Amino acid sequence: MRVLLSSDELAAGIDRLATEVRAVVGRRPLTVVGVLTGSIVLVADLIRRLEGPVQVSMVWASSYRGTATRPGELELRLDLLPDLAGRDVLLVDDIFDTGRTLEALLEELGRRGAASVRSLVLLAKEGRAEVATRPDFIGFDIPDEFVVGYGLDFDGAWRHLPYLGVLEEDEIAATRAAGGAATRAAEVAVCRNADGRG
Ligand code: IMP
Ligand code: MG
Repeated sequence: MRVLLSSDELAAGIDRLATEVRAVVGRRPLTVVGVLTGSIVLVADLIRRLEGPVQVSMVWASSYRGTATRPGELELRLDLLPDLAGRDVLLVDDIFDTGRTLEALLEELGRRGAASVRSLVLLAKEGRAEVATRPDFIGFDIPDEFVVGYGLDFDGAWRHLPYLGVLEEDEIAATRAAGGAATRAAEVAVCRNADGRG
């Protein structure tokens, strides 16, 4: 595992994102819509920095990656959403990769009569976008590598790391070859050094 962003660097980025959001939205009530499952850690950290009234809701999106690190067909579930009519909405996702998830969700939210719909992502991968849409707020631009931790997973594992890391090729291969057991063994080894400082 190679650390890309330590927990301190992530915290500084989220401070900056919260300040940017409030500079645009002001003190108006904000409806934060997080995308399950990858955004859970980000949403929890972000809403505690957003001064002023905040409502939180979640939607679910999956691009059927399974044990692949490349996207497949997109599935969305929006049945937990409250009435968005007249609300200022902030869609929050972990990462903007091809952009297809964010674009599809923004289109869905745009049909619900909100006063405004903006989007925020922790990460954006350089050179991967396949859509014209761009997030309104981006925490960090990162190189085109498969990252895990701070909510992001590979095959359901690694979300709980407090930092953002890049899986080595052999970790990806081992996970694929031996399934969950290999992933758990590798997670135990990596989590002995869980603060992401070295
Ligand atoms: P997009 O639709 O291609 O932009 O993909 C967005 C979704 O794919 C994210 O919400 C993540 O769930 C997943 N994803 C994309 N890149 C990565 C990565 O490097 N690590 C983990 N998940 C990723
Ligand atoms: Mg996701």
